[in-house]
Amino acid sequence: MTRNLDSLSPATFTAAAVVGLLVLHVVRKFFKARCPLQAIPSVGVPSYPFGFYVGAWNYMKHGRAITEEGYLKYPGRAFKVALANRWLVLLNGRTLIEDIRTAPAEYLSGSAAVNSVLHLEHTMGHEQFHDPYQIPVIKAPMTRNIGVCFPDIRNEVVAAFEDLVPAKTDEWISVPAMQTAFPLLSRVTNRFFIGLPCRDPDYIKITTEFTLNVTRDAIWLHTIPSILRPIAARLFGHLEPATRGAMKVLGPILEHRLEMDDKYGPEWPNGDRPNDMISWLLDEARGHPKRRTVRQLTRQVLNVNFGALHTTTQAIIFDLSRGGWTKAAMGKMVKLDSFFKESSRIMPLVVAGVVRQVLKDFTFSDGSTVPAGTLVGIPVLAEHHDEANYPGGCEFDPFRFSRMREQAGQGTKHQMVSLSADFLSFGIGRHACPGRFFAADVQKLLLAHVIFTYDLKFKDGLRPVDEWMALMSSPNKTAEIMFRRRT
Ligand code: HEM
Repeated sequence: MTRNLDSLSPATFTAAAVVGLLVLHVVRKFFKARCPLQAIPSVGVPSYPFGFYVGAWNYMKHGRAITEEGYLKYPGRAFKVALANRWLVLLNGRTLIEDIRTAPAEYLSGSAAVNSVLHLEHTMGHEQFHDPYQIPVIKAPMTRNIGVCFPDIRNEVVAAFEDLVPAKTDEWISVPAMQTAFPLLSRVTNRFFIGLPCRDPDYIKITTEFTLNVTRDAIWLHTIPSILRPIAARLFGHLEPATRGAMKVLGPILEHRLEMDDKYGPEWPNGDRPNDMISWLLDEARGHPKRRTVRQLTRQVLNVNFGALHTTTQAIIFDLSRGGWTKAAMGKMVKLDSFFKESSRIMPLVVAGVVRQVLKDFTFSDGSTVPAGTLVGIPVLAEHHDEANYPGGCEFDPFRFSRMREQAGQGTKHQMVSLSADFLSFGIGRHACPGRFFAADVQKLLLAHVIFTYDLKFKDGLRPVDEWMALMSSPNKTAEIMFRRRT
C-alpha cells in the first residue's frame, strides 16, 4: 500500500518535520564537533550535514570565484575551502603569508604537501619524496650553467620551431597551441638536460606524457584506499611504463656515463665530459651508491622534466596569447622581463598555491590554530589582483614592473625571478621554485625568437577563454595560433 504526503494529517506531518530537523541538527553538531577546523570560516560550503561534499563539487567547478569570495570576506584572516577529500585552509594577507615563509620546517612542509596531493611514491617514485637530490642540482649547477649552455639551448629553439612551426612567408599556418608547445618545450629543456638525444621522438612522447600522467594518476589514486594504492598504481599507473620507456633511450647513455664516472670521476681525459643534467646528477650522487643506477638516474631526469615542462609550457602559451607586445617594445630585456612577470601575475597557473602540510599543530598570527595533517595555502590569484597590491590589479599592464624598476633603488626588486609576498607565481620561502631562472630565460628566448621570426594571430581573431578546474588554470586546450614567417 502506498501513501502520499497529502494523506498525512497536519499533526503527523509537523511531527515528522520536527523529528527530521532534530536529526539534522544532531548530525550537524556531531560532524562540527569532530571537525578540528570549525573555528575557521568555510566558503562555498553549505551548512547542512554532508554539505562538505556539495562544497567540494562547487569548488571543483567554481574554485576561482569561491576563493575570491573568501579573500574579500575575510581580509587578513584564514578561511577554508573544500577539496575532494579534505579541507584546504587559505591564508589571506601579508602577515599570514609571512607566517608561511618563516615557519620552521618541522611545522610546515612543502614536500609533505606535494606528496599528499600527488602521491609521489606512486606517481614519481619513492626517491622523489625520500631523496629528492635533483632539487640542489637545479638550484646550483643547473642554474649556474644556463649561460654556458645558452648557445645549445638557442640552437634547439631554432631547430624545434623549424620542425614544429614550418611557416612560410606567403601563407598563414594554424598550429594547435598545447599540442605544439609541449614537444617544443620538451626538446628545448632536454637539450639542456641530456643534449641532442632530446630529439628522439619516443623520448619526447615519454617526457610530455609523464608530465601529464603524474597529475592524472594522482587524481584517481585519491579515490583508492591507501592500503590498495601500491598495487593499483603498479597495475594501472604510468610511472613504471614511463621509467621503462625512458630507460630504453637513456639507458645506454647512462651506462656509459656511469662507467666513465667510475673510471675518471668528474675529470674526463681532454675535458670531454658533457656539461649537462646527467653530469650534475652524477656529481650529486657521488658517494651514494643507491643514486648511481641507470634506473634512479632515469627517474630523476623524468622528475626534473615534470617540474619544468608543464609549468613552462603553460606559461609560454599564456605569454604568447597575451598580445600587446611588439618587436620594438620587446627590444629591451627589462621590458621583456616585465612582460613575463605581468603575464604570470595576471595568470599564475593556480588560484591558490604555495601549499604546505602542517606537521605539528601551528598557530598563525590571526590566532587560527591549525592541527597537524591540515593543508594550508595562499590565495595567489586574489593577492595578485588586489588593488592594494597593484593599482588596476585586474588589468594586464605589460610594462608595470619595468616602470617600477626605473625608480631609484628598485632595479632588481621587481625582476621576474625575485620572490615577494605580492608576487607568488614561483612560490615563497624555502620551497620556492629553484627552476625559475631557467624558466624565465627560456620564456624570453622563445618569445624573442617568435617575435623576430613570425607574425602571429589567433585563428578566430579572439583570445580563447582560459580553462579552470578547482585550483588550476590552463590555457584553452583547443586554442590555435596562426603563424606566418616574417619577410
Ligand atoms: C614558468 C615556469 C615555472 C613556474 C610558474 C613554476 C612554479 C613553481 C611553484 C609555484 C613552485 C612551488 C613553490 C612553493 O611552494 O613555494 C615550484 C616548485 C618547484 N619547481 Fe617550479 N616552476 C616553473 C619552472 C620550473 C622549472 C623549469 C623547473 C626545473 C628545471 C622547476 C622545478 C621545480 C622544483 C624541483 C620545485 C620544488 C621545490 C621544492 O620543493 O623545494 N620549476 N615551481
